[in-house]
Amino acid sequence: MGRGLVVVGVAVTVAVTACAVAAVVVGKRVKSRRKWRRVVGVLAELEQGCETTVGRLKQVVDAMAVEMHAGLASEGGSKLKMLLTFVDTLPNGSEKGIYYALDLGGTNFRVLRVQLGGQRSILEPDVERRPIPQHLMTSTSEDLFDFIASLLKEFVEKEGDVSDTTLMRRRELGFTFSFPVKQTSVSTGILIKWTKGFGIEDTVGREVSECLEQAMARIGLNVRVAALVNDTVGTLALGHYHDPDTIAAVIIGTGTNACYLERTDAIIKCQGLLTTSGGMVVNMEWGNFWSSHLPRTSYDIELDADSPNPNDQGFEKMISGMYLGDIVRRVILRMSHEADIFGDALPKLSMPFILRTPLMAEMHEDDSPELTKVARILKDTLEIPDVPLKVRKLVVKVCDVVTRRAARLAAAGIVGILKKIGRDGSGGITGGRSRSDIKMKRTVVAIEGGLYTSYTMFREYLHEAMKEILGEEAAQHVTLMVTEDGSGVGAALLAATHSSDPVDNVQLL
Ligand code: BGC
Repeated sequence: MGRGLVVVGVAVTVAVTACAVAAVVVGKRVKSRRKWRRVVGVLAELEQGCETTVGRLKQVVDAMAVEMHAGLASEGGSKLKMLLTFVDTLPNGSEKGIYYALDLGGTNFRVLRVQLGGQRSILEPDVERRPIPQHLMTSTSEDLFDFIASLLKEFVEKEGDVSDTTLMRRRELGFTFSFPVKQTSVSTGILIKWTKGFGIEDTVGREVSECLEQAMARIGLNVRVAALVNDTVGTLALGHYHDPDTIAAVIIGTGTNACYLERTDAIIKCQGLLTTSGGMVVNMEWGNFWSSHLPRTSYDIELDADSPNPNDQGFEKMISGMYLGDIVRRVILRMSHEADIFGDALPKLSMPFILRTPLMAEMHEDDSPELTKVARILKDTLEIPDVPLKVRKLVVKVCDVVTRRAARLAAAGIVGILKKIGRDGSGGITGGRSRSDIKMKRTVVAIEGGLYTSYTMFREYLHEAMKEILGEEAAQHVTLMVTEDGSGVGAALLAATHSSDPVDNVQLL
């Protein structure tokens, strides 16, 4: 009897323990399921916030075209600055001689020597490339321009014995300065503001070519700035040089922007503007475009608030390489706060801009079954080891949502330009005629920047959206042409076009 009681007692204890263990296991599972549901909820909310249906994209197209009109109508009429460039003729292939180019505004600073042979021939340029030391981006004007001038001097001195007679005359250069500049002529202009992480206060409001020329004078270098251009304008010049149907250029790299060829009579804010060609390239500075139709999330709002230029460059902050990685980082951080999917201490994940866009692209395009690249980047860059496969998949999904939105918005921006100039096949300009009556002209848009050229998923999403917005038929008449090195060779071409031409081709009455 006594033994029987002991057996029963043991059995009860075992049963109770088993129940307790089961309860803990079930409790943990329930908790972890609940956490997972929260994470999935964050993803669903992100997807909803980033939605870019064709309907919404068409609203963005219209808003872009309307803002372009407004920016052309009056100074300050729109967040789109629609800046005059004083470039009224584009290279046509006959340019000859040796020209230099400086390229400031991307990841690297570059100096180039370009030999133009006429008849659309360009010899392989000599190029020197240097990363811009971080401290110079927020230092003083003098420090930055001294750095630029001294690299140019080194480069020129290395040129050795070049027998070309063009070098007997004063050297000339095209200066690609990829920031918003209010041009006063084709070779001069005033910096309106910095973007892309630059922030040298004493340059704002100053004449950019003069800053460079003063720095060159300090070291005894005698080179004439023949053209001061935005990178979009250099890209348009090079695109047009290769294909005369090129009427616009877009950059989607560290920053984003577009320019296009406009009729001078449509530039209402400069009435009486005369050019020999009847047109002028307009630098839109579309990075600053804004519309209530843009799908904005709490991550965009936080990124903007934490940036050195809040309420500025809103379109750029949703599209360009400087920011995409950081949007993804913010989403992952939110997920880990909501449901500690990555464990506790995450000092790296809290660091702004630690996840650069090229790494994000690598994760997005990881096609290994185990997502090994994703695991490596999470471990090496964010110091989060041992992330389970299902969480890695989630990270890839976040990259996808953020990139897809960016690419589709860029596509809407491009169609906005086409609409403004009546090249979107909608009959906007010819009015009244049905779509099928309108014979669409072949239209080429030169395009450059790492996001488009090196990020396949981004490029594919952009193409897909262009087709969705324009329709298959109209899309066939629009070619996006990769135009590599518009900011180098294109600037040299514009220097050639405006070489030793003391009077700009444009007269303001
Ligand atoms: C600048 C533009 C430039 C673009 C692409 C933007 O941040 O404001 O001037 O064209 O980046 O480099």
